[in-house]
Amino acid sequence: MNSSKDKTRILFVCLGNICRSPSAETIFKAIAEKAKIQVEVDSAGTSAWHEGELADSRMRKTAAARGYKITSISRALRGKDFDDFDLIIAMDDNNYDDIRKTARSVEDEGKVYRMRDFFVHKDFDHIPDPYYGGEQGFNMVIDLLEDASEGLVAFLKNRKTI
Ligand code: 4NP
Repeated sequence: MNSSKDKTRILFVCLGNICRSPSAETIFKAIAEKAKIQVEVDSAGTSAWHEGELADSRMRKTAAARGYKITSISRALRGKDFDDFDLIIAMDDNNYDDIRKTARSVEDEGKVYRMRDFFVHKDFDHIPDPYYGGEQGFNMVIDLLEDASEGLVAFLKNRKTI
């Protein structure tokens, strides 16, 4: 049996924790399970604006049409997340800067990555915020997160063999 200590713990972070990071959590979990990688995942927001809410209904609907059921509840990033997770992954540069402001040490800072670091085929510098846009933005978030999740799985597989 694997204990939680054998699992890589990954926290995905965006601004509101109702669009991009709950999608990243759900999509990466599905792709990691298919690849038989042991992970624990969660997501959080750099703001507490939507604390306690389900993900945005447009995001949930678009994800459901592509086979992903998003059930997470929004919460804010906290200092203890740096103890509870091995990797903390930002959706864009603002998130990255805000996460690093929450870090308590250089060791904490070393856990922070950007989702774009893991793109395999896509050539974007961040996961664009779909909140103020139309349906197409939500589908693009899913396309980008699927690609980066494949890259993140490959990154974790390589890391384990070193
Ligand atoms: P997210 O999107 O950071 O991907 O969850 C947003 C959600 C809410 C807001 C902005 C972005 N907002 O301004 O409330």
